[in-house]
Formats: sequence, structure tokens, C-alpha cells
Amino acid sequence: MDLEGPIGDIRRQLAAALAKASSDQENEDLRVQLLGRKGVLTGLLRGLKDLPANERGAAGQALNALKEEVEAKLAAARAGLRDRERMERLQREWVDITLDAGRRPTGNLHPSSRIQYEIEDVFTSMGFEVLDGPHVETEFFNFEALNIPADHPARDMQDTFYLEDGNLLRTHTSPIQVRGMQRLSPPFKIIGPGRVFRCERIDASHEATFHQLEGMMVDRDIKVAHLIYFMKELLRRVFRRDVEVRLRPGYFPFVEPGFELDVRCLICGGKGCSVCKGAGWVEVLPCGMVHPNVLRHGRVDPAQFSGFAFGLGLDRLVQMKYGIDDIRHIHGADLRFLGQFR
Ligand code: FA5
Repeated sequence: MDLEGPIGDIRRQLAAALAKASSDQENEDLRVQLLGRKGVLTGLLRGLKDLPANERGAAGQALNALKEEVEAKLAAARAGLRDRERMERLQREWVDITLDAGRRPTGNLHPSSRIQYEIEDVFTSMGFEVLDGPHVETEFFNFEALNIPADHPARDMQDTFYLEDGNLLRTHTSPIQVRGMQRLSPPFKIIGPGRVFRCERIDASHEATFHQLEGMMVDRDIKVAHLIYFMKELLRRVFRRDVEVRLRPGYFPFVEPGFELDVRCLICGGKGCSVCKGAGWVEVLPCGMVHPNVLRHGRVDPAQFSGFAFGLGLDRLVQMKYGIDDIRHIHGADLRFLGQFR
């Protein structure tokens, strides 16, 4: 069989088509025309079996060499198309990043987020896991599991917004510790940052929506000494300087004993102002040893394990760290205020 004619035709058809092809689709159409099931070259290859045995070898070699050549040229053309597309895109989407340098307005993290991430870093570096929880909680997780039954006066300290289905906006991040206990088996160390809500009279240090960061460590033989170590380490690393603290008894139904850890007011230096309400101290870190009832609600055996927990007021900490005299600035969305935390 004389193959010179058909091979020459295929080469010419390929060259002409490739010169015109400007898309992947055209390249693919060409591949199908030549190498597809009904393609010209496939037809020739299929015809090999009908050739006399003495011609078959040479014809087979010539056709297979042509097939490789076609495949290589198609692949090269495809790569060329991609390069061209990429160059065109680079041209189209080109941006001069040096233009207007320094004048372009950039955003920055909100101070409450920034302090949250800083504290997450402090605790994760000490082996704590970061957990999350829902803003809309059940009464069980927000109150009952924390040793605050329905008729308990402690509910008055954290009045909140109730939904029609009986659920409520969580008043603190403590439900995260109950959810954490139910999911993990001791020993564990967790923190749970988040937004909380209270029906509150707003003033320089009280908002109706604010942020807390819950922490909990449960293991065998956990004592108040462990709690104090972690609290001091936290404040030392957040304030990057020595701050005066005091520990006094505090009442929370979910801890026993319970403490209030106060920071010497950094707004007035302790002389008394609207933030510390004249006391010279600001309450930022209530904490204590987890009450056995709470451990039981978390499916942890109080005979074997003990733990500490704390609930840090993040916005108050922001106030202390940056000397902000009114908590309302923090959620006021005033860019002149927020822009200072770059
Ligand atoms: C609690 O919410 C407890 N769940 C904390 C806790 C956890 C105690 C684990 C023991 C063990 P308290 O109501 O005091 O406690 O709130 C905790 C912190 O949130 C306060 O110290 C304060 O820094 C901050 N805080 C409370 N109310 C407000 C408010 N209205 N606006 C801004 N910050 C607030």
C-alpha cells in the first residue's frame, strides 16, 4: 500500500489546522478527527491487518511514528495555548502594587479579636484546645448544667433574652465547658472564646453584648495552685508587664470555692474612676474549682477528677490593656476609634 500520499495529507491537515486553532476545543476536535475512534489515522491503522504480511511491518512503523508525531504536536499546541492564555490574563489582571503605597486604606483586626487571638496563642502554647459553642443555648447548658436550677436567684445575675421556643441567648461562655466535658474524656484543657448577651443596664463597663473567654482544666488532683499559676501566666503575657492583681472570694454556683480575680485599674491607676466605679480595681477574671455537680453534668466522675474554670471578660481586658475609658467605644464601629489598633 502506498502510504506516502495519506501521511502527507495528514501532516498538511494538521499543520493547517494547528495554525488556525485558538482554543482547547479546536485542538480537541482535531485530535478526534485524526485519532478518534473514527479518525483518519485510526482508520489507516485499522487497515494494517488487511495488508500483505511483507508490507505490514514497514507500514505499521510509518503509521505509528506519524501517530506519535501527531500526539506530540497536539500536546505542544495545547501547552502553547495555555501559555498564551496565562500571558493574556497576566496582562489583563496586572496591578501595580507600588501605586499609592502608604495611602491605600487598610483594615485591621478589632481590638477584641486581637486580644482573643493573643490569649488563644497563650493557651494553645500550654496545650489547651480551642472550642466553640452556639450563641443560642438551651436553658440546660446555660443554667441547669452549671448548677443554676430554674428557681435559683443566681439566674437574676444573668438576665438574658429568651426566644419563643424556650431557648435563650447565652449569658456567658460557660456552656462551652459543659459541652466540652460531654465530648472529651479527662484529662483535658480547653478554652472557649465567644460573644455573650445579657439584659444589662449599659454604662462605662457594661454592654448588653460583649465577649468572654472560658477556660477549663480537668485532670486528677487539680488544685487552686494550678488555677493561680495559669491566671498569672495569662495576665503576665497579655499585659507584657507586671499588673497588680487580687484574689477575693466570689460566688458562682458552678464553682466551689469561687474567686474574683481583679486587676488594679489601669485607667486611673487605682485612684478611682467611672470604669472601676471608684473601687480602684476592675473585675476581669472570675474563676474557681469546678463544682462536683457540674462535673457530673459533663459526665466526669468527681471522685476521680477535679478541675478549675475561669470566664474572662475580653472587652474589659481590652479596656484595661489599651486604657479605654468607656466600653461603648469598643462596639461603636467608629473607624476613628478602631483605626488606632493597627
Ligand atoms: C461569668 O459569666 C461566669 N460564667 C465566669 C466564670 C466562669 C466563673 C468559670 C467561674 C468559672 P461574670 O458574670 O462575672 O461571670 O462575667 C465574667 C466577666 O465578664 C466579668 O468579670 C466581666 O469582665 C465580664 N462582664 C460581665 N458582664 C459584663 C457586661 N455587661 N459587659 C462587659 N463585660 C462584662
